[in-house]
Amino acid sequence: MISLVVLISGTGSNLRALLEAASDAEYPARIVAVGADRDAPGLAHAEEFGVPTFTVPYTSFESREAWGQALLEQIRAWNPDLLVLSGLMRLLPASVVDALAPNIINTHPAYLPEFPGAHAVRDAIAAGASESGASIIVVDNGVDTGSIIVQERVPVVEGDTEQTLHERIKPVERRLLVQTVLDIADGLDLRTV
Ligand code: GRF
Repeated sequence: MISLVVLISGTGSNLRALLEAASDAEYPARIVAVGADRDAPGLAHAEEFGVPTFTVPYTSFESREAWGQALLEQIRAWNPDLLVLSGLMRLLPASVVDALAPNIINTHPAYLPEFPGAHAVRDAIAAGASESGASIIVVDNGVDTGSIIVQERVPVVEGDTEQTLHERIKPVERRLLVQTVLDIADGLDLRTV
């Protein structure tokens, strides 16, 4: 059994998928806390499942570094085996990544290394791509440059908007994330992916 801290910024649909998976006694991971960089609506999912939450508001700190140190303190209080970035829309400072690596994973709504960054779905539409995808990666100090653990293609269909494409990608992200956490609990070594 491994313990997870999950960080979010948004609606938390990936988080919810993990909460649901972890409510099955057979699933080998438990979410010990959920954190956010803002007043994220997705924190309500954690509360519904009785999982403690914390918020470290990015805008309350003078620098990314200061925010990161406050966040790291909160994460460490839970002593998790794995940190899951599940729609956290902030870059962690290198000091935080270095403190927790390689035990940090991120979900990304594109087939990396295609379309890294915060606007991956919009960028795929703007590029006229015929397919995009979903990726789960190990977090390093670049922007979506870490080792790819698993990824899957998702088609772009005619008339897609950023929203419709994202809604097609997100169920794939959720499935890959739940499977990846299971694989890590089963011994997948993040140092060698
Ligand atoms: C996901 O597509 C994630 O990859 C991206 O933001 C979205 C978060 O969705 N960075 P949710 O908050 O899990 O619903």
